Amino acid sequence: MTLRSPCRTVLSSNEAFPGLTATYARACVLQPRNVAAISSGRRTPDRTGGCRHESQIPAQARLVSIFASSAVAIACDRYSRPRPTSMLWTLKARLQRYELALGDAILGIETTPACAAVPLANTMYGDASRFDSKNYSLIWQYLRPVKLHSDDVFYDIGCGTGRVLCVAARQRLRKCVGVELSRALCEKARANAATLRRSRTTIEIVETDAAVADYSEGTVYFLFNPFGPQTLQAVLERIGDDVTRRPRNVRFVYVNPVYREVFDRLKWVKLITNRSFLGSPLTACYYANAVD
Ligand SMILES: C[S@@+](CC[C@H](N)C(=O)[O-])C[C@H]1O[C@@H](n2cnc3c(N)ncnc32)[C@H](O)[C@@H]1O
Repeated sequence: MTLRSPCRTVLSSNEAFPGLTATYARACVLQPRNVAAISSGRRTPDRTGGCRHESQIPAQARLVSIFASSAVAIACDRYSRPRPTSMLWTLKARLQRYELALGDAILGIETTPACAAVPLANTMYGDASRFDSKNYSLIWQYLRPVKLHSDDVFYDIGCGTGRVLCVAARQRLRKCVGVELSRALCEKARANAATLRRSRTTIEIVETDAAVADYSEGTVYFLFNPFGPQTLQAVLERIGDDVTRRPRNVRFVYVNPVYREVFDRLKWVKLITNRSFLGSPLTACYYANAVD
C-alpha cells in the first residue's frame, strides 16, 4: 500500500477494522511510521498523527465513523449521480479508496487485484459477473443481520480476492470456505487467508465452478451477485438437495439481488428481509429455510 505522507483526509471505520474511528479519523494525519504500526496490527491512528491502542477507542465513535462516510456516499448517490466529475463524487471515490487501503492494511491483506477486470469466460453456463467487491463498511453491514455464530460454516460463493471471507474469519466460526473459478483470484484469496491478522477461523479456498461445488458443510451462504440465473439455479439446487439429505438450518445473503426471482421460486427457503444500506444503492435479500 502506498500512502502519501502526510496525507490529510476523512477516513471511515467499521467492525472489520474496529480501532479506527471518525473522531480520530476525521483529521487523521497518516505518517509512514503510523502506517507501519497500523500494518503491523499494533496501533490505530489518532488525530495528532500519533497512535492509540484499539482497545481505547469507544464503540460510539466507530458508529459515528460509519455515518460520516455513509453520509458522503448517500449525498453522492442522491445528488451527484449524473455528474461523476462533481466534488462530492470525487470525495466519495477518495474516501472509498482510503477506506479500502486502510482496511486492507489493518487486516494485513491485499484485496484490490490488478487482474480479473473481465468476467470469466469458462463457466459452465457462461453467465459469470465480473469481479467486484464492496467497501469494508458495507461488508460489515451486509453480514450483521445474519448474526454469525461459532457453529457456522460460512461460504462466499464467487469469493474473488477473499475480502468478505477475511472479514467473516475475524469472528470465531467453524470454517470459512470461498468458491471461485478464477485461478488468479483463488491464489490472491489464499494469500490473503494466510496473511490475515487476528484470524479466528480457518479459510479454505476451492477453485471450481460454483455450479458443481460441494456445499455440504455450509450453514451461511454469501453471494454478491456472482453470476446469472442459470448458475444460481444450479447452486441452489445443490444446496437444496444437500439440505434434504442432511437437514439443517441454512441462511443466505444475496447482495445486489438481480436474479432474486430464482430464490423466490424456491419452496424450501423464505425471504426473511430485503435491506438497503447506508451509503449504497444496492440492496441485499436475506433468505433462510425453516428446519427445526
Ligand atoms: C461480484 S464478484 C464478488 C467477489 C466477492 N464475493 C466479494 O464480495 O468481494 C463475483 C465473483 O464470482 C466469481 N464467479 C463468477 N462466476 C463463477 C462461477 N460460475 N464459479 C465460481 N466463481 C464464479 C467471479 O470470478 C468473481 O470473482
